[in-house]
Amino acid sequence: MNSSYSYIRKNIRLECSHKVYFTKESFSTKNDTLAEILQPHREGIKTKALVFVDEGIIDGNPNLLEHIASYFRSRDDRINLVCSPQFIQGGEPAKNDWSLVEKIWELLNRYSMCRHSYVIVIGGGAALDLVGFAASTAHRGVRLVRFPTTTLSQGDGGVGVKNGVNYFGKKNWIGTFSVPEAVVNDFNFLLGLPHSQKRAGYVEAIKVALIRDRSFFEFIEENAENLSSFNENLLEQVIKKSAALHLDHIASSGDPFEKGSARPLDFGHWVAHKLEQISDFKIGHGEAVAIGLAVDLTYSALVGLVKAKTTERILCLLEALGFPLYHDLLNEISANGNRVILEGLEEFREHLGGELTITLIQGIGEGIEVHAMDRKIILDAVRDLNNRHISLRNA
Ligand SMILES: NC(=O)c1ccc[n+]([C@@H]2O[C@H](COP(=O)([O-])OP(=O)(O)OC[C@H]3O[C@@H](n4cnc5c(N)ncnc54)[C@H](O)[C@@H]3O)[C@@H](O)[C@H]2O)c1
Ligand SMILES: [Zn+2]
Repeated sequence: MNSSYSYIRKNIRLECSHKVYFTKESFSTKNDTLAEILQPHREGIKTKALVFVDEGIIDGNPNLLEHIASYFRSRDDRINLVCSPQFIQGGEPAKNDWSLVEKIWELLNRYSMCRHSYVIVIGGGAALDLVGFAASTAHRGVRLVRFPTTTLSQGDGGVGVKNGVNYFGKKNWIGTFSVPEAVVNDFNFLLGLPHSQKRAGYVEAIKVALIRDRSFFEFIEENAENLSSFNENLLEQVIKKSAALHLDHIASSGDPFEKGSARPLDFGHWVAHKLEQISDFKIGHGEAVAIGLAVDLTYSALVGLVKAKTTERILCLLEALGFPLYHDLLNEISANGNRVILEGLEEFREHLGGELTITLIQGIGEGIEVHAMDRKIILDAVRDLNNRHISLRNA
């Protein structure tokens, strides 16, 4: 899946080439995908590569290091793997520890990695965000090849242009926009994921379908039962389409680096980011986005933006796929007596810059931007979701 797009900023046209590959067994010596990406910048020299591996993926892929070693050995006439793969912590803690950024920089410096060298990162979205940030700031940008290993990162974040770490207790407060050299989605990495994480990719697929593609939503709906039992073929189709829609949005929106205030792909995310933060990241991103979508959809029905039966249809799909749509933290009260979740709105505006812009929908496949949300009606939506949760529990 290759996408080229141009971007005009202050009368300068920038051309971006964005490559996303889908493959299996990417470190089998017979698979040329990575080797073809790692082109030297001029004839006759070896390409330098440094690999980072999310330590969380090793249990499910016990032979990975061996495969990486034999892959690079079989191509050592033209690629110089500067050291054995380096483990990095996986999950949100990776983004909460600034010293990890410095450790990555230290390795890049130790092995004299330059802008023509390649940093390869294999892992979940958090590991990609961390290593991507360090690579994009070293020498103002060392080439990055991402291997996302979760459904969420293969279908959403991993194919995007953002990197970042958390700071001041806020998500992605420090970060960069930079187009990766390539993204390799190897479906075999998904096989060992726990169910909760396999499910997480579905929510970003539903989100992007809701704002852009009604027929994709219907496809997920028709196949909900098999998707809920993680049918491999269907899961791969959903991730592939989700990645394509995310990439297409970046390429066609005219604002790949989010200079404006609109962030359609962040539908449901203002609540999600706040929930992740106040739960100390115990609520995962996918789980939080499902609740965020439920709040925004219930709100949209209450203000008459979308039909109540459309909201109901979407909430039923999320539930059929196994997502809880309420969490007690939605009702958490801050020290000054306010509902903590509402602070998420202001933090979202600040993160975007400029005017508050929230994407909601007016129908399936029809995103719409609003610039204000009524706080009392948001709380009514939370109350309705709490009641729904109680009746489901008692049913
Ligand atoms: N850059 C972006 O545009 C963007 C977009 C969406 C989300 N994100 C970020 O991505 C992060 C969430 O990423 P995620 O959902 O991929 O999970 P994650 O990176 O938080 O990983 C969760 C856990 O799964 C483990 N893991 C990863 N791959 C595995 C595999 N194949 N088998 C077994 N375990 C595995 C990790 O080690 C970790 O313990 C959040 O920090 C979110 O903010 C970034
Ligand atoms: Zn997301």
